[in-house]
Amino acid sequence: MTVTAERGSDLIGPVELARELGLAVPTPEQVAVIAAPVEPALVIAGAGAGKTETMAARVVWLVANGIVAPERVLGLTFTRKAAGQLGDRVRARLRRLAASPLLDRLDPGGQRRAALLACDPTVLTYHAYAGRLVAEHGLRVPVEPGARPLTETAAWQLAHRVVSTWTEDIDTDKVPATITNLVLDLSGELAEHLVDPDDLVRWTTRFLDAVENAPRAARQRAGLPKDLQRILATQRLRVALLPLLADYARRKRRGG
Ligand SMILES: Nc1ncnc2c1ncn2[C@@H]1O[C@H](COP(=O)(O)OP(=O)(O)OP(=O)(O)O)[C@@H](O)[C@H]1O
Ligand SMILES: [Mg+2]
Repeated sequence: MTVTAERGSDLIGPVELARELGLAVPTPEQVAVIAAPVEPALVIAGAGAGKTETMAARVVWLVANGIVAPERVLGLTFTRKAAGQLGDRVRARLRRLAASPLLDRLDPGGQRRAALLACDPTVLTYHAYAGRLVAEHGLRVPVEPGARPLTETAAWQLAHRVVSTWTEDIDTDKVPATITNLVLDLSGELAEHLVDPDDLVRWTTRFLDAVENAPRAARQRAGLPKDLQRILATQRLRVALLPLLADYARRKRRGG
């Protein structure tokens, strides 16, 4: 039996647990992740390396040993496909565990089996989980109880409407679809980094000033190098798009 440091010797190890449940035996690397202490951890592994398998086994190991109740587990993924795979594997394994005689041995009182029968872990995409949070707790913010986060498609359509009905000049040769993507990307990046548009304007002004007024090398007298000019143009365009971002945010709040 594998023993973890934090809980003493009464825990079942990942290898024995897999054997008891008739599942693939984890590799030593997987074992280290499955039975890791309950604290934040970052695991990096390549495509097809066995990440989903390991996460599912981790959940089952935590539940089998009574360290975590199934309803306290939250699994979040970027794509619906990944959430589907992870959720299916976690649920299938927990069902095996619930039906296994092993559980009688680990949990003579029967609380873990009762918890397993009562509740599944939550495994969702970030987006779906955010939608659930808004639906359940939106009134505290407050947003309307019926409010939902925009789907990616709806967000794109909304931003595209902003761009294609924009009447003022934007100094660019890019097509509206490209501008739409830029608006959405910039809006997402600003929100994620908690940067407000005024900060971006201030930063850009300083940045442009620093680059354009820096002392030039002899061969730069005629003008800045092409790649540097491209960077400056990108940054200028970002600032030029801010009014569109504001309109997009306004329409989003209004719900279209
Ligand atoms: N220890 C193991 N023994 C046998 N098979 C395993 C083991 N670990 C994973 N596998 C199998 O390897 C395949 C890939 O595993 P998994 O889907 O978990 O990888 P992943 O890293 O999540 O892949 P992706 O990058 O596609 O999401 C699956 O068929 C899985 O059942
Ligand atoms: Mg996977």
